[in-house]
Amino acid sequence: MDWTVWRDQFPILQRKTYLNTCSLTPLGRFHRAAQERFFAHWDDLGASAWYTHWGAALDELRGKVARLLHAEREEIALAPSISGALSTTMSSVPLQRHSVVASDMDFPTLTYHFMAKPHIDVRFVRGDGISVPLQAYIRAMDPSVSVLAMSQVWYQSGGIAPVPELAKLARQQVALAVCDGYQGAGQLPTDPRALGCDVYLTGGLKWLLGGTGIAFVWVRKERLAELRPRVTGWFGNPRMFDFDSTKLDFWPDARRFEAGTPALAAVHMASAGLDVVLQIGPEKLRERTVALDNDLVDRLHAKGFKLRTPEPPEQRAGIVAVDWPDDPGAAVAKLAQQGIIVDARPGRVRISPYFYNDEEDNARCVEALVRARG
Ligand SMILES: Cc1ncc(COP(=O)(O)O)c(C=O)c1O
Repeated sequence: MDWTVWRDQFPILQRKTYLNTCSLTPLGRFHRAAQERFFAHWDDLGASAWYTHWGAALDELRGKVARLLHAEREEIALAPSISGALSTTMSSVPLQRHSVVASDMDFPTLTYHFMAKPHIDVRFVRGDGISVPLQAYIRAMDPSVSVLAMSQVWYQSGGIAPVPELAKLARQQVALAVCDGYQGAGQLPTDPRALGCDVYLTGGLKWLLGGTGIAFVWVRKERLAELRPRVTGWFGNPRMFDFDSTKLDFWPDARRFEAGTPALAAVHMASAGLDVVLQIGPEKLRERTVALDNDLVDRLHAKGFKLRTPEPPEQRAGIVAVDWPDDPGAAVAKLAQQGIIVDARPGRVRISPYFYNDEEDNARCVEALVRARG
Protein backbone atom coordinates (compact mmCIF):
# COMPACT_ATOMS: atom_id res chain seq x y z
CA MET A 1 0.00 0.00 0.00
CA ASP A 2 1.39 3.40 -0.98
CA TRP A 3 0.12 5.42 1.97
CA THR A 4 1.49 8.72 0.65
CA VAL A 5 -1.27 8.94 -2.00
CA TRP A 6 -3.84 9.45 0.76
CA ARG A 7 -2.17 12.61 2.03
CA ASP A 8 -3.47 14.58 -0.92
CA GLN A 9 -7.05 13.74 0.13
CA PHE A 10 -6.59 15.83 3.29
CA PRO A 11 -5.52 19.41 2.41
CA ILE A 12 -4.74 20.28 6.04
CA LEU A 13 -1.75 17.91 5.84
CA GLN A 14 -0.07 20.29 3.38
CA ARG A 15 -0.22 23.11 5.93
CA LYS A 16 -0.11 21.39 9.31
CA THR A 17 1.14 18.34 11.10
CA TYR A 18 -2.20 16.85 12.04
CA LEU A 19 -1.94 14.14 14.70
CA ASN A 20 -5.33 14.38 16.35
CA THR A 21 -7.69 11.91 14.69
CA CYS A 22 -8.74 10.63 18.13
CA SER A 23 -10.51 13.99 18.49
CA LEU A 24 -11.68 14.67 14.95
CA THR A 25 -10.93 13.41 11.46
CA PRO A 26 -9.19 15.96 9.25
CA LEU A 27 -11.46 17.34 6.52
CA GLY A 28 -11.09 15.34 3.29
CA ARG A 29 -11.68 16.35 -0.30
CA PHE A 30 -14.26 13.53 -0.36
CA HIS A 31 -16.21 15.32 2.42
CA ARG A 32 -16.52 18.44 0.30
CA ALA A 33 -17.56 16.40 -2.73
CA ALA A 34 -20.24 14.63 -0.66
CA GLN A 35 -21.53 17.99 0.62
CA GLU A 36 -21.68 19.33 -2.92
CA ARG A 37 -23.77 16.32 -4.00
CA PHE A 38 -26.10 16.84 -1.05
CA PHE A 39 -26.45 20.57 -1.79
CA ALA A 40 -27.07 19.90 -5.50
CA HIS A 41 -29.96 17.55 -4.69
CA TRP A 42 -31.38 19.96 -2.11
CA ASP A 43 -31.14 22.84 -4.55
CA ASP A 44 -32.59 20.88 -7.50
CA LEU A 45 -35.31 18.93 -5.79
CA GLY A 46 -36.06 20.50 -2.41
CA ALA A 47 -37.99 18.18 -0.10
CA SER A 48 -38.73 15.73 -2.92
CA ALA A 49 -35.09 14.66 -2.70
CA TRP A 50 -36.20 12.61 0.33
CA TYR A 51 -37.95 10.21 -2.05
CA THR A 52 -35.36 10.18 -4.82
CA HIS A 53 -32.07 10.33 -2.87
CA TRP A 54 -32.09 10.92 0.85
CA GLY A 55 -34.15 7.96 2.09
CA ALA A 56 -31.78 5.74 0.09
CA ALA A 57 -28.75 7.60 1.51
CA LEU A 58 -29.81 6.63 5.06
CA ASP A 59 -30.18 3.03 4.03
CA GLU A 60 -26.88 3.03 2.20
CA LEU A 61 -25.12 4.40 5.26
CA ARG A 62 -26.65 1.75 7.52
CA GLY A 63 -25.47 -0.84 4.99
CA LYS A 64 -21.89 0.48 5.07
CA VAL A 65 -21.85 0.41 8.87
CA ALA A 66 -23.14 -3.18 8.74
CA ARG A 67 -20.28 -4.11 6.37
CA LEU A 68 -17.74 -2.46 8.65
CA LEU A 69 -19.03 -4.35 11.70
CA HIS A 70 -19.62 -7.70 9.94
CA ALA A 71 -23.24 -7.25 10.94
CA GLU A 72 -26.67 -7.33 9.33
CA ARG A 73 -28.28 -4.10 8.20
CA GLU A 74 -31.24 -4.88 10.47
CA GLU A 75 -28.89 -4.50 13.44
CA ILE A 76 -27.87 -0.93 12.56
CA ALA A 77 -29.47 2.40 13.46
CA LEU A 78 -28.30 5.98 12.99
CA ALA A 79 -28.13 8.53 15.80
CA PRO A 80 -26.88 12.12 16.16
CA SER A 81 -24.24 11.29 18.79
CA ILE A 82 -23.28 8.59 21.28
CA SER A 83 -25.29 10.52 23.88
CA GLY A 84 -28.34 10.39 21.62
CA ALA A 85 -27.77 6.70 20.88
CA LEU A 86 -27.56 5.92 24.59
CA SER A 87 -30.78 7.84 25.23
CA THR A 88 -32.83 5.73 22.85
CA THR A 89 -31.17 2.32 23.36
CA MET A 90 -30.89 2.49 27.15
CA SER A 91 -34.46 3.78 27.48
CA SER A 92 -35.49 0.22 26.68
CA VAL A 93 -33.72 -1.25 29.73
CA PRO A 94 -35.38 -1.11 33.16
CA LEU A 95 -32.67 0.08 35.55
CA GLN A 96 -32.56 -0.12 39.33
CA ARG A 97 -30.38 1.72 41.83
CA HIS A 98 -27.12 -0.26 41.53
CA SER A 99 -27.75 -1.80 38.17
CA VAL A 100 -25.05 -0.10 36.08
CA VAL A 101 -21.33 -0.86 36.22
CA ALA A 102 -18.93 1.46 34.39
CA SER A 103 -15.40 2.72 34.87
CA ASP A 104 -13.79 6.07 35.64
CA MET A 105 -11.82 5.67 32.41
CA ASP A 106 -14.91 5.58 30.19
CA PHE A 107 -15.71 8.71 28.22
CA PRO A 108 -18.03 10.93 30.30
CA THR A 109 -20.87 10.75 27.79
CA LEU A 110 -21.21 7.06 28.66
CA THR A 111 -21.27 7.43 32.43
CA TYR A 112 -23.20 10.74 32.49
CA HIS A 113 -26.07 9.08 30.67
CA PHE A 114 -26.68 6.82 33.65
CA MET A 115 -25.60 9.26 36.36
CA ALA A 116 -28.22 11.78 35.22
CA LYS A 117 -30.97 9.37 36.27
CA PRO A 118 -31.72 10.23 39.90
CA HIS A 119 -32.65 6.67 40.86
CA ILE A 120 -29.33 5.18 39.62
CA ASP A 121 -26.13 4.95 41.56
CA VAL A 122 -23.48 3.91 39.03
CA ARG A 123 -20.98 1.40 40.41
CA PHE A 124 -17.61 2.68 39.25
CA VAL A 125 -14.59 0.48 38.78
CA ARG A 126 -11.31 2.38 38.93
CA GLY A 127 -8.45 2.41 36.47
CA ASP A 128 -4.86 3.65 36.81
CA GLY A 129 -5.07 6.12 33.92
CA ILE A 130 -3.78 3.54 31.45
CA SER A 131 -6.19 0.62 31.84
CA VAL A 132 -8.78 -0.87 34.16
CA PRO A 133 -8.06 -4.31 35.67
CA LEU A 134 -10.50 -7.04 34.75
CA GLN A 135 -10.50 -8.12 38.42
CA ALA A 136 -12.08 -4.79 39.37
CA TYR A 137 -15.01 -5.48 37.04
CA ILE A 138 -15.32 -9.03 38.37
CA ARG A 139 -15.58 -7.67 41.92
CA ALA A 140 -18.21 -5.11 40.91
CA MET A 141 -20.53 -7.52 39.12
CA ASP A 142 -23.42 -9.38 40.73
CA PRO A 143 -26.91 -10.46 39.66
CA SER A 144 -28.41 -7.04 40.45
CA VAL A 145 -26.45 -5.48 37.55
CA SER A 146 -28.49 -4.91 34.38
CA VAL A 147 -25.90 -3.05 32.28
CA LEU A 148 -22.15 -3.42 32.07
CA ALA A 149 -21.05 -0.29 30.22
CA MET A 150 -17.53 -0.42 28.78
CA SER A 151 -15.16 1.24 26.35
CA GLN A 152 -13.56 -0.65 23.49
CA VAL A 153 -10.51 1.63 23.70
CA TRP A 154 -9.85 3.92 26.66
CA TYR A 155 -9.89 7.42 25.19
CA GLN A 156 -7.21 8.85 27.47
CA SER A 157 -4.57 6.15 27.05
CA GLY A 158 -5.38 4.27 23.85
CA GLY A 159 -5.45 1.02 25.85
CA ILE A 160 -7.61 -1.71 24.35
CA ALA A 161 -10.16 -2.93 26.89
CA PRO A 162 -10.75 -6.68 27.36
CA VAL A 163 -14.19 -6.46 25.72
CA PRO A 164 -14.70 -10.22 25.13
CA GLU A 165 -13.96 -10.94 28.81
CA LEU A 166 -16.19 -8.08 29.98
CA ALA A 167 -19.02 -9.11 27.69
CA LYS A 168 -18.73 -12.68 29.01
CA LEU A 169 -18.88 -11.37 32.55
CA ALA A 170 -22.03 -9.41 31.67
CA ARG A 171 -23.60 -12.50 30.11
CA GLN A 172 -22.89 -14.62 33.21
CA GLN A 173 -24.89 -12.11 35.28
CA VAL A 174 -27.61 -11.71 32.63
CA ALA A 175 -26.63 -8.06 32.16
CA LEU A 176 -26.46 -6.21 28.85
CA ALA A 177 -22.94 -5.66 27.50
CA VAL A 178 -22.95 -2.09 26.21
CA CYS A 179 -19.78 -1.00 24.46
CA ASP A 180 -18.71 2.52 23.50
CA GLY A 181 -16.58 1.79 20.44
CA TYR A 182 -15.94 5.38 19.38
CA GLN A 183 -12.16 5.02 19.71
CA GLY A 184 -12.15 1.54 18.21
CA ALA A 185 -14.17 0.95 15.04
CA GLY A 186 -12.25 1.78 11.89
CA GLN A 187 -8.75 1.60 13.27
CA LEU A 188 -9.44 -1.79 14.91
CA PRO A 189 -11.14 -4.61 12.97
CA THR A 190 -14.38 -4.94 14.92
CA ASP A 191 -17.17 -7.50 15.02
CA PRO A 192 -19.43 -6.66 18.00
CA ARG A 193 -21.19 -10.03 17.80
CA ALA A 194 -17.89 -11.89 18.02
CA LEU A 195 -16.83 -9.60 20.88
CA GLY A 196 -19.96 -10.68 22.73
CA CYS A 197 -21.60 -7.25 22.95
CA ASP A 198 -25.35 -6.67 23.03
CA VAL A 199 -25.19 -2.97 22.14
CA TYR A 200 -22.21 -1.39 20.37
CA LEU A 201 -21.97 2.32 19.62
CA THR A 202 -19.58 4.25 17.43
CA GLY A 203 -19.70 7.29 15.18
CA GLY A 204 -18.26 9.62 12.61
CA LEU A 205 -16.07 12.06 14.51
CA LYS A 206 -12.80 10.14 14.49
CA TRP A 207 -11.45 6.94 12.95
CA LEU A 208 -14.43 6.46 10.62
CA LEU A 209 -13.67 9.79 8.91
CA GLY A 210 -17.27 10.97 9.14
CA GLY A 211 -17.25 14.30 10.98
CA THR A 212 -19.72 15.66 13.49
CA GLY A 213 -23.40 14.95 14.08
CA ILE A 214 -23.58 11.24 13.30
CA ALA A 215 -23.27 8.08 15.37
CA PHE A 216 -23.98 4.42 14.70
CA VAL A 217 -25.84 1.89 16.80
CA TRP A 218 -25.46 -1.87 16.54
CA VAL A 219 -27.87 -4.03 18.53
CA ARG A 220 -27.63 -7.84 18.56
CA LYS A 221 -30.66 -8.88 16.57
CA GLU A 222 -31.76 -11.56 19.05
CA ARG A 223 -32.19 -8.78 21.64
CA LEU A 224 -34.24 -6.41 19.50
CA ALA A 225 -37.72 -7.69 20.25
CA GLU A 226 -37.29 -7.35 24.03
CA LEU A 227 -35.87 -3.81 23.81
CA ARG A 228 -38.81 -1.44 23.52
CA PRO A 229 -37.69 2.20 23.55
CA ARG A 230 -39.14 4.73 26.01
CA VAL A 231 -37.44 7.55 24.11
CA THR A 232 -38.40 7.75 20.47
CA GLY A 233 -39.53 9.82 17.50
CA TRP A 234 -41.27 9.31 14.17
CA PHE A 235 -38.22 7.75 12.44
CA GLY A 236 -38.51 4.82 14.87
CA ASN A 237 -41.98 4.02 13.56
CA PRO A 238 -42.46 1.77 10.50
CA ARG A 239 -45.74 3.54 9.71
CA MET A 240 -44.31 7.01 9.96
CA PHE A 241 -46.00 8.12 6.75
CA ASP A 242 -49.46 7.19 8.06
CA PHE A 243 -49.12 10.27 10.28
CA ASP A 244 -51.40 8.71 12.83
CA SER A 245 -50.43 10.47 16.05
CA THR A 246 -52.57 8.05 18.07
CA LYS A 247 -50.69 4.87 17.06
CA LEU A 248 -47.19 4.21 18.28
CA ASP A 249 -45.29 1.31 16.74
CA PHE A 250 -41.61 0.34 16.45
CA TRP A 251 -39.56 -1.06 13.61
CA PRO A 252 -38.81 -4.73 14.24
CA ASP A 253 -35.17 -3.95 13.43
CA ALA A 254 -32.65 -1.59 15.03
CA ARG A 255 -34.26 1.45 13.39
CA ARG A 256 -36.58 1.33 16.40
CA PHE A 257 -33.77 3.28 18.11
CA GLU A 258 -33.89 6.15 15.64
CA ALA A 259 -35.81 9.23 16.72
CA GLY A 260 -35.99 12.51 14.79
CA THR A 261 -35.00 13.72 11.32
CA PRO A 262 -31.32 12.91 10.73
CA ALA A 263 -28.75 15.59 9.89
CA LEU A 264 -28.37 14.89 6.18
CA ALA A 265 -25.14 16.84 5.78
CA ALA A 266 -23.59 14.59 8.43
CA VAL A 267 -25.07 11.49 6.79
CA HIS A 268 -23.44 12.38 3.46
CA MET A 269 -20.03 13.09 4.98
CA ALA A 270 -20.09 9.94 7.09
CA SER A 271 -20.97 7.87 4.07
CA ALA A 272 -18.05 9.27 2.08
CA GLY A 273 -15.69 8.68 5.03
CA LEU A 274 -16.83 5.08 5.39
CA ASP A 275 -16.10 4.52 1.69
CA VAL A 276 -12.46 5.33 2.40
CA VAL A 277 -12.34 3.16 5.54
CA LEU A 278 -13.96 0.24 3.72
CA GLN A 279 -11.76 0.69 0.66
CA ILE A 280 -8.59 0.40 2.74
CA GLY A 281 -10.09 -2.00 5.29
CA PRO A 282 -9.68 -2.03 9.10
CA GLU A 283 -7.04 -4.81 8.93
CA LYS A 284 -4.69 -2.65 6.84
CA LEU A 285 -5.56 0.43 8.90
CA ARG A 286 -4.62 -1.44 12.05
CA GLU A 287 -1.27 -2.54 10.55
CA ARG A 288 -0.53 1.04 9.58
CA THR A 289 -1.49 2.56 12.94
CA VAL A 290 0.54 -0.03 14.84
CA ALA A 291 3.60 0.83 12.72
CA LEU A 292 3.15 4.58 13.22
CA ASP A 293 2.44 4.19 16.95
CA ASN A 294 5.53 2.01 17.42
CA ASP A 295 7.63 4.61 15.61
CA LEU A 296 6.19 7.39 17.77
CA VAL A 297 6.66 5.45 21.01
CA ASP A 298 10.32 4.72 20.10
CA ARG A 299 10.98 8.39 19.35
CA LEU A 300 9.34 9.49 22.61
CA HIS A 301 11.29 6.92 24.64
CA ALA A 302 14.52 8.04 22.96
CA LYS A 303 13.85 11.57 24.24
CA GLY A 304 13.08 10.37 27.75
CA PHE A 305 9.32 10.95 27.80
CA LYS A 306 7.18 8.90 30.14
CA LEU A 307 4.08 7.43 28.48
CA ARG A 308 0.59 6.90 29.85
CA THR A 309 -0.20 4.27 27.23
CA PRO A 310 0.20 0.47 27.45
CA GLU A 311 3.69 -0.62 26.36
CA PRO A 312 2.80 -3.83 24.44
CA PRO A 313 1.70 -2.80 20.93
CA GLU A 314 -1.14 -5.34 20.92
CA GLN A 315 -2.67 -3.60 23.96
CA ARG A 316 -2.82 -0.12 22.47
CA ALA A 317 -4.85 1.44 19.69
CA GLY A 318 -4.07 4.61 17.83
CA ILE A 319 -3.54 6.92 20.79
CA VAL A 320 -0.17 7.61 22.40
CA ALA A 321 -0.46 9.57 25.65
CA VAL A 322 2.57 11.42 26.97
CA ASP A 323 2.73 12.08 30.69
CA TRP A 324 2.48 15.88 31.14
CA PRO A 325 1.45 16.66 34.71
CA ASP A 326 1.95 20.40 34.45
CA ASP A 327 -0.47 22.23 32.13
CA PRO A 328 -0.71 19.95 29.08
CA GLY A 329 -3.07 22.54 27.51
CA ALA A 330 -0.21 25.06 27.36
CA ALA A 331 2.05 22.50 25.63
CA VAL A 332 -0.67 21.72 23.10
CA ALA A 333 -1.14 25.45 22.42
CA LYS A 334 2.64 25.85 21.88
CA LEU A 335 2.61 23.02 19.37
CA ALA A 336 -0.41 24.50 17.60
CA GLN A 337 1.53 27.76 17.13
CA GLN A 338 4.11 25.68 15.25
CA GLY A 339 1.40 24.06 13.12
CA ILE A 340 1.32 20.76 15.03
CA ILE A 341 -2.15 19.69 16.12
CA VAL A 342 -2.40 17.28 19.06
CA ASP A 343 -4.56 17.56 22.15
CA ALA A 344 -4.56 17.61 25.93
CA ARG A 345 -6.34 15.55 28.53
CA PRO A 346 -5.78 15.90 32.28
CA GLY A 347 -2.11 15.16 32.98
CA ARG A 348 -1.23 14.17 29.43
CA VAL A 349 -0.76 15.13 25.81
CA ARG A 350 -2.52 12.82 23.34
CA ILE A 351 -1.07 12.08 19.92
CA SER A 352 -2.96 9.94 17.44
CA PRO A 353 -1.40 9.19 14.06
CA TYR A 354 -3.61 7.60 11.39
CA PHE A 355 -2.91 6.13 7.96
CA TYR A 356 -2.33 9.51 6.25
CA ASN A 357 0.38 10.47 8.73
CA ASP A 358 3.98 9.42 8.37
CA GLU A 359 7.19 9.10 10.36
CA GLU A 360 8.16 12.69 9.56
CA ASP A 361 4.97 13.90 11.25
CA ASN A 362 5.95 11.90 14.32
CA ALA A 363 9.49 13.29 14.27
CA ARG A 364 8.27 16.92 14.00
CA CYS A 365 5.85 16.38 16.86
CA VAL A 366 8.44 14.83 19.17
CA GLU A 367 10.96 17.61 18.45
CA ALA A 368 8.30 20.19 19.27
CA LEU A 369 7.45 18.38 22.51
CA VAL A 370 11.11 18.44 23.47
CA ARG A 371 11.12 22.23 22.95
CA ALA A 372 7.84 22.63 24.87
CA ARG A 373 9.26 20.62 27.77
CA GLY A 374 12.03 23.23 27.94
C1 LIG B 1 -14.90 7.14 23.65
C2 LIG B 1 -15.77 8.30 23.25
N1 LIG B 1 -17.12 8.19 23.37
C3 LIG B 1 -17.93 9.19 23.02
C4 LIG B 1 -17.43 10.37 22.51
C5 LIG B 1 -18.35 11.46 22.10
O1 LIG B 1 -19.68 11.26 22.51
P1 LIG B 1 -20.86 12.09 21.85
O2 LIG B 1 -21.12 11.49 20.48
O3 LIG B 1 -22.01 11.94 22.74
O4 LIG B 1 -20.40 13.51 21.71
C6 LIG B 1 -16.03 10.53 22.39
C7 LIG B 1 -15.37 11.75 21.87
O5 LIG B 1 -15.78 12.73 21.50
C8 LIG B 1 -15.20 9.46 22.76
O6 LIG B 1 -13.86 9.57 22.66
